Amino acid sequence: MISEKMQEAINGQLNAELYSSYLYLSMNAYFKSINLDGFANWMHYQAQEELTHAMKFYDFINQRGGRVNLLQIEAPPSQWNSPQAVFEATLEHEQKVTGLINGLVELALTEHDHASNIFLQWFVSEQVEEEESVTGVLEQLKLMGEAKGGLFMIDRELAKRSPGGESVAAE
Ligand code: FEO
Repeated sequence: MISEKMQEAINGQLNAELYSSYLYLSMNAYFKSINLDGFANWMHYQAQEELTHAMKFYDFINQRGGRVNLLQIEAPPSQWNSPQAVFEATLEHEQKVTGLINGLVELALTEHDHASNIFLQWFVSEQVEEEESVTGVLEQLKLMGEAKGGLFMIDRELAKRSPGGESVAAE
């Protein structure tokens, strides 16, 4: 059985993952509005991936005999100044999520909740990958500067992301 404290914290993370999905869906809509379909595609799968993260937390609470409590999901921003600004915001968001996951691990350790600790280790590794793939796109955008040709090249690359596939942009 999961402790009240751990249950509440994981419920909070479930909400944070749903917000992440909402945020990336909003970024998808932004890229669609400026006709960068490859970027939009990348954000589409990113939003889906966040839903799978949310469901992992949802299932874990139930598996441990806890009770899921769905909280209100905050509205994400809907406008950015450039593709680079979107990826800067994405990296910042993922770094925040990494901090949240680390906080959960620390709580699991304090509570001597080994099951939660083991469950959370998957997310610790996942965050390393998430930050790496977002940084990869961001670095490419920075290198490209204002050049339109570069933007379309990255767009073509990001169009290759497929369901369940990790980012292909870092290469
Ligand atoms: Fe669920 Fe992007 O971390």
